[in-house]
Amino acid sequence: MAASAHDPAQDPDRDPVADGTPDITPDQAAPAPGPVASAVSRRRLLGAVGAGAAVAGAALGAGGTALARDGGSGHGPAAGHAPAATVDFRGAHQAGIATPSQDRLCFATFDVSQTATRADVAAMLTAWTAAAEAMTLGHQVPGHEGDLNTPPDDTGEAVGLTPGRLTITIGYGPALFDDRFGLAARRPSALKPLPSLPGENLDPSVTGGDLCVQACADDPQVAFHAVRNLRRLGFGTVLPRWMELGFGRTSSTSPQQATPRNLMGFKDGTRNIDARDETVMGQHVWIGPEEPQRWIRGGSYLVSRKIKMRMEQWDRDRLGDQQDVFGRYKGTGAPLTGHREFDTPDFGAKSGGEYVIPDDAHIRLASPENNKGLRILRRGYSYTDGIDKTTGDLLGGLFFIAFMNSPDRFVTLQRVLGAHDALNEYIQHIGSGVFAVPPGLAAGQDWGRQLFG
Ligand code: HEM
Repeated sequence: MAASAHDPAQDPDRDPVADGTPDITPDQAAPAPGPVASAVSRRRLLGAVGAGAAVAGAALGAGGTALARDGGSGHGPAAGHAPAATVDFRGAHQAGIATPSQDRLCFATFDVSQTATRADVAAMLTAWTAAAEAMTLGHQVPGHEGDLNTPPDDTGEAVGLTPGRLTITIGYGPALFDDRFGLAARRPSALKPLPSLPGENLDPSVTGGDLCVQACADDPQVAFHAVRNLRRLGFGTVLPRWMELGFGRTSSTSPQQATPRNLMGFKDGTRNIDARDETVMGQHVWIGPEEPQRWIRGGSYLVSRKIKMRMEQWDRDRLGDQQDVFGRYKGTGAPLTGHREFDTPDFGAKSGGEYVIPDDAHIRLASPENNKGLRILRRGYSYTDGIDKTTGDLLGGLFFIAFMNSPDRFVTLQRVLGAHDALNEYIQHIGSGVFAVPPGLAAGQDWGRQLFG
């Protein structure tokens, strides 16, 4: 392990964990609502319905049996749930990318059934739009409420819960643009399967998909409910391929949010893109005017990686080595060349002839300084699959999600990380996905018409 550039014992801002006085406390600050997230009372929700939003209106139709979810049960938000808040569904970009990260994720991918036609897919996406908009408002999926002779249009498990800042973000995998649905001429130019990358051992059962849905919320049941209801609306048209539940966001999308910790105990997201910075987002995340496919401009690409952590090995590694693996202090999150979390790492600093932030440290290899300015927006979550029955090892890690204006950015980074990152001793990439994420919907637009033109 390389020595620190400064003498921690003399440092008033010294890292207490490195000093042997652990003070790791969970981040407690509630995420500050961003510009598009707003507290919504039941009255205001109902007011919005009264103002004529078609979907919301439908949710109150047929005798008014379907009330806004936070009032539908008649007892308001359940104790312990996040305050009622919604994130705008429509806008220039889809919600769930630049909007502040919620704490829970339900991510699913789907394949189009062999018998489904172009018209079936278009109709399903139109139905998904109405359902997604209703659910993000905290309403039930609209339909024929109260009809005893049909299955309920909403599965019901979110009744009584708040909207939970639900965002539903949709993406399209490379295979959707093959010759099945006449979409070949609309393929976003950078959308293709990811190449083989160093260090991966991908399981096909958690890789790929024609479509993906990312549902994020403050409440896991709200996020699950969203995916489940889209799956229900997709009966006969799509089949679920794989699904992942995530907890404990592992990135902030703005410094207004306290930096969370990943399952290795390190602050994660410190030098993530600040998603409020439109200039940086325009340079690195949003697909711009250079893209020949106009319909996808203002969208992005989503790369997902299921990354298993070898927790038993990690938990036996000494603190000094853990810090060298990342190039940061475990307690404060400061770079090994600094004192405070947001200090800029000094990749040139040496001590005893060795780099203070080691050659193979994760942040050295991933940083824009060492990758020609390349940046991505990380928005991942921790996951667990329980235990390995044969070894008793804990199964879990990082469900990595990142947004960028070309998946080549991820490929460039992962070629370096997969080959040289000290972290590789403790992780394995086991699942993967790449999806083109369309821009946000304007009023009256829906995902079906947006995709098929
Ligand atoms: C289990 C796997 C991973 C873990 C536990 C992990 C954890 C971390 C941590 C703790 C940091 C430092 C704090 C920060 O600035 O966010 C970081 C930084 C970063 N990571 Fe990862 N990471 C993982 C995988 C990846 C992958 C697969 C990529 C992309 C291919 C990536 C890209 C980055 C980038 C770009 C940074 C910022 C570097 C900087 O500018 O200083 N990470 N990661």
